[in-house]
Parts: sequence; structure tokens; C-alpha cells
Amino acid sequence: MTASMQPAKPDRPFAWLERRLDEADQQGMRRRLVPRQMDGPYLLEGDRRLANFGANDYLGIAMDSSSATGSDERGETPATFGSGAAASPLVCGFTPLHARLCGELAHLEQVESVVLFPSGFAACSGVVATLPEAGDLVLSDALNHASLIDGCRLSKATRFIYPHCDHRAVGSLLAAHRKRFDRVFIVTDSIFSMDGTRAPLVALADLADEYKATLIVDEAHGTGVLGHRGGGLCEELGVEGRIAIRIGTLSKAVGAQGGFVAGPQVVTDYLLQRARPLIYSTAASPATIAAALDGLRIIREEPERRRRVLDLSGRLIEELNRQLPAKRRIVDHGTPIIPVVIGEASKTVETAGRLADAGFYVPAIRPPTVPPNQSRLRISLSAAHTDEMLTELCETLRTFGL
Ligand SMILES: Cc1ncc(COP(=O)(O)O)c(C=O)c1O
Repeated sequence: MTASMQPAKPDRPFAWLERRLDEADQQGMRRRLVPRQMDGPYLLEGDRRLANFGANDYLGIAMDSSSATGSDERGETPATFGSGAAASPLVCGFTPLHARLCGELAHLEQVESVVLFPSGFAACSGVVATLPEAGDLVLSDALNHASLIDGCRLSKATRFIYPHCDHRAVGSLLAAHRKRFDRVFIVTDSIFSMDGTRAPLVALADLADEYKATLIVDEAHGTGVLGHRGGGLCEELGVEGRIAIRIGTLSKAVGAQGGFVAGPQVVTDYLLQRARPLIYSTAASPATIAAALDGLRIIREEPERRRRVLDLSGRLIEELNRQLPAKRRIVDHGTPIIPVVIGEASKTVETAGRLADAGFYVPAIRPPTVPPNQSRLRISLSAAHTDEMLTELCETLRTFGL
């Protein structure tokens, strides 16, 4: 048995990653992030100013300071942020601003460490493709986001798909198969993007404890919206300390772009060595990172925004249910995603077109994004919607018989 095949000790579930990082250290192969700030054709690295021959900014546009400006988040100095990072994080795309965002996200998530990815999709697919290996098992919710599904497809681990949100099915699969596999990962969205449903995270965390499995949760639609601090569904349910690996996106509630993985230092260090979408893709641009820092500030300082969007969601569902027949009533999951299931794809598209004619953009979601005959209008709410906008939408849907 090689060192990496020894079962993890319960108190150190990522001992296998620690061993691999030690090996990389010994071989001089360990990658580390160094914050470096572009300054025209130079790089500022700590006290040093280095002529930069590492960026892919071939035309010098990324650091054209007129292309994107912003104010320093702490208001100390005016700052100019480049429109492009010009290289992957391990080359010179990781700036002090990226480092600051990692720190703030780690605080929001109450974790040891955060590593950034160029998008939420890259974070989800990267984590699931990297951590589970041949000889491991991944249990994946049937309605997981495409990015998690692609991660499963790229991984060499065995994959079982369990019925949507069915933690009992997860329990049965674990009881039947746990012993056959080195490591087991349970992978789930926290809020499902096309249904607004919530994953049964408490029950899944219990199962993960019982069967020594690792729970990986994609908080794409939870970050900033749920929880007292805006830490997502994990925070709201009080299970953040029990879910070692959480994925988030900066492109939804945070209002910018990019993705992140939050968890123990050993996990983010390992991803930095092995997660291909992180290593081989240009880092999110400094301008985007500045926007994300500002988004986090708003999430911290204006909790009324999350109260407002959830309040609007409750009110809209109540209103819609008043006009819908019992069998088509919408379940209130306490999320800003409200599916109005119509069924047939053509009818759904036609209804979306009529809504647009009436002044409302509500996307029609069809297969393969949702199962056949479950096409739907997907209403996504925002704290910026006014009460009048909601009332008018309800009235219009009513005139359509919805
Ligand atoms: C559940 C879920 N995970 C991940 C993603 C990907 O995030 P991003 O848009 O930042 O790539 C999305 C975006 O649609 C999503 O809905």
C-alpha cells in the first residue's frame, strides 16, 4: 500500500493531501501564490520592482490605466486597477487585491483559506475533477449544476447519482458501498438553480460524519443571500463548520465575476498544485476583483438587501399561489429563485415571448437544462425590484392564466 492509499485518520480527514504536499515540497515542486501588482511593464513584488517578462499582456492593454478605474476599498488611496490580470495566478496574475479578496472571503466563510478560480464553473468542475480519484466514490445529486456534473465526468472516481435532495438514498448508497472505496465525496448544490430547492445539508453532514465522507457544497446561489452574515445556506443552517469544502461564485449576489473554493489550507494548497482550471487559466482581472471586494462590503454593510429579496420572494409566491390551481402551487423554499412550471417547451417559450411583449423578461428554461415536460419560467428576484414591479408581474401572469 502506498502512502497515499492509507485511509485518512478521522481527526485529519485530509491527511492524504498533507502527505502529497510534503512530497511536492521535498521535490521542490510545490507551487505557491505570490501577490504581484502590475505597474506598466514592471511588477511590484513586496519591496521590489521587477521588469515583467511573465505577463501575456502582448499589446500592453491590460495595464492601460484608462481602461478600468476604481477607488481603493479602504478609501486610503485612489487606485487604478487593470482590466486584465494578464497571466495565471501562479505566474503573475495574483495581485495584492486578489490576496485581499481571499482574506475577506475566508472571513465571510469562516474558513482557514480561500483560493480563487476564474469562474464559478471552473471552481466547481475543478474541485470535483481534482479531489476524487480512481478508487474513490462521488455521490452527486440528480439536479446538480452542469459544472459539478462536468467535474464528475472528468474525475476518474466512480460516480453514483442520487435522486434530488434524497438524503435517505445517500444513506442507502453509503451503507451498501462505502467499504469498497478509499474515499467518498458527497457533492451538492446548496440552492438548486432551476428549482430554488435547498439541499438537506444537515442530514448530509450527519451522513458524511457517520461514513467518513467529505461533503462538497456549491453555494453559488446561497453566498450573500442566506445566513446572518451572507455566508450562504451552510451558515443559515449552522453547518459551516461541518462542511469542509464550499464553493462560491462572485458572479451572482456578489455582483462581479469569478469563483472560489473555501476550506482548510491543505485543500486550497492542494488545488493550487493540481486544479487545472486554476493553474492553466488567466486569473480574474484586478478590476473584477475590486468589484467583488465592493460587493462583499455591501453584503457586510447592507444586510437589509438579503432580507428584502427573501421577503419579495415570499410575497410573490404567496401572490402566485393565490391564482394557481392546487396541483401547480409553488413551494416556498426561501430562495430568490421561483420556477413557474408550464410543462411543454413550446408553450413555455411562447409564454416568455408574451411576457416580453408585456414588458417583462422572464427566461424560458427548457430541456436539457430541466427534465422533459418540466419547462418553466424561471423568475429570479433582486432586492432592486420594486413592489410595483412585482405587482405588475403578478397581474400579467394572472391575465395569462398563470
Ligand atoms: C449552481 C451553480 N453553480 C455554479 C455556477 C457557475 O457559476 P459562474 O457563473 O460564476 O461560472 C452556476 C451559474 O449558473 C450555478 O447556477
